[in-house]
Amino acid sequence: MTGKSNDRLFSFLQARGTIIFIKNKGDAQMKVVMINGQNHKGSTWHIGRMLAEKLTVPEDITEFFLPRDMPHFCLGCTQCFMKSETLCPHAAQLAPITAAMDAADVLIFTSPVYVYHATGSMKAFLDHYGWRWMPHRPEAKMFTKQGVVISTAAGGGMKSTNRDIADSLFFGGVPRVYKYGLAVRAISLEAVTEKRRANAERCKAAEQGTRAAGGRRCVFAAEFFGKFYFKRRNLVLKSVYALCSIAE
Ligand SMILES: Cc1cc2nc3c(=O)[nH]c(=O)nc-3n(C[C@H](O)[C@H](O)[C@H](O)COP(=O)(O)O)c2cc1C
Repeated sequence: MTGKSNDRLFSFLQARGTIIFIKNKGDAQMKVVMINGQNHKGSTWHIGRMLAEKLTVPEDITEFFLPRDMPHFCLGCTQCFMKSETLCPHAAQLAPITAAMDAADVLIFTSPVYVYHATGSMKAFLDHYGWRWMPHRPEAKMFTKQGVVISTAAGGGMKSTNRDIADSLFFGGVPRVYKYGLAVRAISLEAVTEKRRANAERCKAAEQGTRAAGGRRCVFAAEFFGKFYFKRRNLVLKSVYALCSIAE
């Protein structure tokens, strides 16, 4: 972690131009919950896990995998809306996930792009929390959480996938939801354009404190990809600089 002071923010740059600020919790360790819309630990999970481990210690990271930990579709009985979520036929599977989310400071949702959207397992999971949306019975604990949604695709669909999940977080009351999407296929050193290299220069300037360069700050998220996909250190650095396109 970068620091624990109340005033300090853990900052995190999205490769596509959004800066993610995860606010630390004073001297206390952050509790992070990861909801993975897939059962496997592929590109998407790795990125989410790397972020989680930057934020807190492994003991404070709780993970759920879908459909393993919640394998059901919503049946549309509307008991959760009309009476109580405890009447949901899947309440038993949902209870530990809900409890973990309620206790968390940061919620990280990951999903690979499946036909331009979040996985079916993720959608089935989110359907089970419709009752918590703002027009229904919002849970106040959500109002102080920070959310991050992460997706990867072979080529495209990260935006719509992230949106699928971010909508539920937003309407569930999470005030700040960051989205991070990465097109795996496009990430290779050969594919780095001059424009991105130019962005990198601006980013480097910002790192040195020249925030006048466009209000940019910090480089980190791209490092994920470098670490994950490139073995050689020089390539890691190049990928960091290449990926930090910056627009606030
Ligand atoms: C059923 C299915 C649908 C997919 N649909 C898309 C798609 O619409 N667009 C895309 O670019 N990649 C698509 N992909 C590729 C994955 O999104 C991509 O490989 C992703 O990085 C996998 O992440 P993972 O390693 O975390 O599983 C699809 C893959 C599968 C299995």
